[in-house]
Amino acid sequence: MQHPTAPIPVGVLGATGTVGQRFVTLLAVHPWFVLHALGASPRSAGRPYAQAVNWKQTTPIPAAVRDVVVRECVPEAFRECTIVFSGLDADVAGDIEAAFRAADLAVFSNAKNFRRDPHVPLIVPLVNTAHLAMIPQQQAQFTPPLARGFIVTNANCSTTGYVVPLHALERAFGPLEAVLVTTLQAISGAGYPGVPSLDIIDNVVPYIAGEEEKIEWETLKILGGLSRADASSPGGAGALAFDMHAAHPLRVSAACNRVPVIDGHTECVSVRFARRPPPSPQQVREALAAFAPDAQALGCPSAPRRTIVVHEEPDRPQPRLDRYYQDGAGVSVGRVRQCAVLDIKFVVLANNVSIGAATSSIINAEVAVLKNVVKY
Ligand SMILES: NC(=O)c1ccc[n+]([C@@H]2O[C@H](COP(=O)([O-])OP(=O)(O)OC[C@H]3O[C@@H](n4cnc5c(N)ncnc54)[C@H](OP(=O)(O)O)[C@@H]3O)[C@@H](O)[C@H]2O)c1
Repeated sequence: MQHPTAPIPVGVLGATGTVGQRFVTLLAVHPWFVLHALGASPRSAGRPYAQAVNWKQTTPIPAAVRDVVVRECVPEAFRECTIVFSGLDADVAGDIEAAFRAADLAVFSNAKNFRRDPHVPLIVPLVNTAHLAMIPQQQAQFTPPLARGFIVTNANCSTTGYVVPLHALERAFGPLEAVLVTTLQAISGAGYPGVPSLDIIDNVVPYIAGEEEKIEWETLKILGGLSRADASSPGGAGALAFDMHAAHPLRVSAACNRVPVIDGHTECVSVRFARRPPPSPQQVREALAAFAPDAQALGCPSAPRRTIVVHEEPDRPQPRLDRYYQDGAGVSVGRVRQCAVLDIKFVVLANNVSIGAATSSIINAEVAVLKNVVKY
């Protein structure tokens, strides 16, 4: 795989938001990508970034972007960019990202709008980068076909954390049959200012609109493969389709809760394997700790060096202690034990703003560059 030899100009849409700020922080020191343009709403456009943004990161605003004037999110303002990362609010992401794709830009999005599109890969970069194979078919939908433009989305932040160990387990032990997941989700998952303090301090909110449906559906698209359609398919014989784990139907049930934690989603997971007898807790621990994703083998600079840390302590992982594991790009797992109803249960902790959002998009783009899906 050829690493880029010259900087690749990139832009960020929604650069003033929670995810956008994480993009700016990561991209300011990226070895391949150079921040070229920042976009946000008409409220922010025309103002220097440092004035437009309500900066909430623990590190200062990168010096190189403080005085960069925020642009409107229109493709003409990002013409010199090869890649555009989107942290746009879902209310506006659909139209804006579609316009950028139509203008032949490569878009890596965090928004939900295109996740269910049958031609748009929904990629967790530590799991299913093979789904980039759908891009030529996506580009061929346009007349004339797009040469460089496409959309890749990453998953909902709570889906992302727990599909990493699920994928590691399927790789080691074969298909899963059933998954139960109960989430304890951080406030920052709702963006800024997020849940009102009087609703979340001293409280747990057992409902996050749309979240359970997203986890249950996205898990199947991500863990499933790509299949070739037969002649009866609307796309015609040979067309690629996401198979939604059809060869081994997987039942997923999610229960989502908002908890008074700033960053880091915790998830309590129980799984049932198709294979009998199922692996033991020790075999599961070893498989998770040994897991190395394709993104790491490819040499992606933002991929975690060690993807899953398996804790032996009975009271880990915890958001305050573990959310910055591998700079927020890795996933922490603990309490691996037998489940009396399914087979095995464990706890997952993932940083929702890093691997749950911006870091995933950036690794997706790195893989796409290395696989020559991004033309630059
Ligand atoms: N937070 C997470 O952990 C997380 C994780 C995964 C995915 N996501 C998804 O990522 C996206 C961003 O989330 P967030 O938490 O960063 O939200 P956020 O903090 O509310 O930021 C939203 C961004 O969208 C911009 N925006 C709003 N209206 C716009 C318009 N009309 N035109 C152009 N830009 C506009 C805002 O700009 P202004 O500042 O100018 O208003 C801001 O930069 C959402 O789709 C969310 O569902 C979030």
